[in-house]
Amino acid sequence: MARKVILDLDPGIDDAVAIAIALFDPRLEVVAMTATGGNVPPEQATANLQSIVALLDPPRLPRLGIAPTDTVFPEKPFNLHGPDGLGSIDLPRVPLHGGHLSEKVIWEAIHAHPREITFIALGPLTNLSRVLARDPSIVELIGEVIIAGGTLHGTGNVSPVVDFNFYCDPRAARHVIREPVTKTLVPLETSGQVAFGFDLLDQLPAESSRAGWLLRRMLPHTFRAHRQLLGSEGICLHDVVALVAATNPELFERATVAADVETSGDLTAGMLVVDRRNVRQWRPNLDVLMNCDAEAVQDCILRGLDAAARGT
Ligand code: BDR
Ligand code: CA
Repeated sequence: MARKVILDLDPGIDDAVAIAIALFDPRLEVVAMTATGGNVPPEQATANLQSIVALLDPPRLPRLGIAPTDTVFPEKPFNLHGPDGLGSIDLPRVPLHGGHLSEKVIWEAIHAHPREITFIALGPLTNLSRVLARDPSIVELIGEVIIAGGTLHGTGNVSPVVDFNFYCDPRAARHVIREPVTKTLVPLETSGQVAFGFDLLDQLPAESSRAGWLLRRMLPHTFRAHRQLLGSEGICLHDVVALVAATNPELFERATVAADVETSGDLTAGMLVVDRRNVRQWRPNLDVLMNCDAEAVQDCILRGLDAAARGT
């Protein structure tokens, strides 16, 4: 039976690649995709999510959630995704027809499928935190949460010690990490093990498919941005690796840790703090995927892209 998932996203190029793969993976039943601000402001995140799903036109349409617009995210030192979040590709906007806020869509989906939903958080944890704040008892109805974000050894991407998703909303990250729900974290160090070189561009599906068209427009921007802003010749698609953690958990090494999130330091807000003392004082509350079989994860991603292309 396909695994029921909600993807919570701030598209974002790696979010967009994850959308394309998830929608055409028969092992997943994408019940909902919900937008949050992060890589782009909330309105743009919602527009990107709707436009990508409309473009890909999957056989089974998930419910789509609108990103809340009352969120204030900290200034970012740089932007890897371009002003539109998708590498400036001018994706046609689809008109909005009503729709509900992400938190409502999430709440309803979890209640419709108690203990069956895996919530895959690929952006700041704002939406899930809001759902939990509004209805704390819902925690018992969530199957599992998989989170792209955090750094295990304190090497960040947006600040020296903080990953982008936790940086955007440290309070939400702390809230979710502290909740008694089964949680798996895919930290930057692990998703960063799966690096793609320029040859990825030659392996993308043909432009004649809609997925191929989208990938071939977005991904060159990612390579340029990684080189110009991070001094790196390869790229990492963090959110896509987190999606593979849901479909192929056997490719990852898992450890249980006791962790919390710093919310207030000038230099450290959003930092994942792990209790590594000999005699641990905190209770274990989080599974972390420490290492992965990078080659096998890459294969999964490439196969996922091909499946998306075949479906479009
Ligand atoms: C996260 O940063 C964002 O730019 C990506 O979309 C990913 O979710 C990794 O830190
Ligand atoms: Ca993201």
